Amino acid sequence: MPEPRPLVIDTDPGIDDALALLLAVASPEVDLRLVTSVHGNVEVGQTTENARRVLHLAGRADVPVAAGARESLVYPQPERAGHVHGAGGLGGVELPPSPAPLDPRPAVVALADLLMTSVAPVTVAAIGPMTNLALLVTGFPEAAARIGRLVVMGGSAARGGNVTAAAEFNVWADPEAAQAVLSSTVPTVMVGLDVTLPTVLPAAGIARFAAAGPVGATAAAMLGQYVQHARSSYGTDGVVVHDALALTEAIAPGTLGTVRRDVVVDTTLGAGRGQTLVDRRSVSAAATAVDVAETVDSAAAVEFLIERLQRLDRR
Ligand code: RIB
Ligand code: CA
Repeated sequence: MPEPRPLVIDTDPGIDDALALLLAVASPEVDLRLVTSVHGNVEVGQTTENARRVLHLAGRADVPVAAGARESLVYPQPERAGHVHGAGGLGGVELPPSPAPLDPRPAVVALADLLMTSVAPVTVAAIGPMTNLALLVTGFPEAAARIGRLVVMGGSAARGGNVTAAAEFNVWADPEAAQAVLSSTVPTVMVGLDVTLPTVLPAAGIARFAAAGPVGATAAAMLGQYVQHARSSYGTDGVVVHDALALTEAIAPGTLGTVRRDVVVDTTLGAGRGQTLVDRRSVSAAATAVDVAETVDSAAAVEFLIERLQRLDRR
């Protein structure tokens, strides 16, 4: 087994964020070195507390958590997603508080510090609005240049939106930030709705890790609200855990089929705000091109997630 690769997760827990954090903890390929919180699904004070509690649930309260941006760069996020993730952000599940203190550094400083001192290339998984990452690429470009690989959950090439007809939630929450990140030269994989929407975690799969033990059972409890939302919104008997698929790509590069594309974010104030305009006419050779995920073996990705989550109760 090669040395575990250093990993940072920037996140707005959020139910699928919680699963992504648990997946990272369960995966020996990566060494989770830092978690940075950001506003998004719920307010940043709540996302920060949720990140700390999920890490404690998984026995990893030792992973530093640093609180990040409270609001989007230019225009406030129009609304949060409590109706999807529950007011507390974790599907109504109350987790025990973490005994570990909050890292006192602002998220972007903690991230820049880690990047400037890490010898091995760092993978960063950004699974919430990209406000913290935008602050890094604009305020700390020398640190951003040291990112080995940035995997973002966000956007959509050809699947429209989920929060509006045009926009995916993470990009819609802070389009200016997404534009700053997706137009940078940081090596970036965009894991968008094109690959997350087909990748449904079925109720039977949830039951498998729920049966493994208390951690899996708690993860399943968090998903309960998500399952109800999926049934009522999409008529599906399963859930789309967007962020967990992004972490799967971060943990196992090549899980997703990607094509280098030029991507522009609609930062206007009209009906298309937050749309990712992915130029699929050609493969891009530009340094600012993004590796856009366009194909996925959904069954294999779901099995990977279930098997890893089962490990959390078998350590
Ligand atoms: O569109 C899916 C994204 O929005 C995920 O990151 C989910 O957590 C929500 O924030
Ligand atoms: Ca998220």
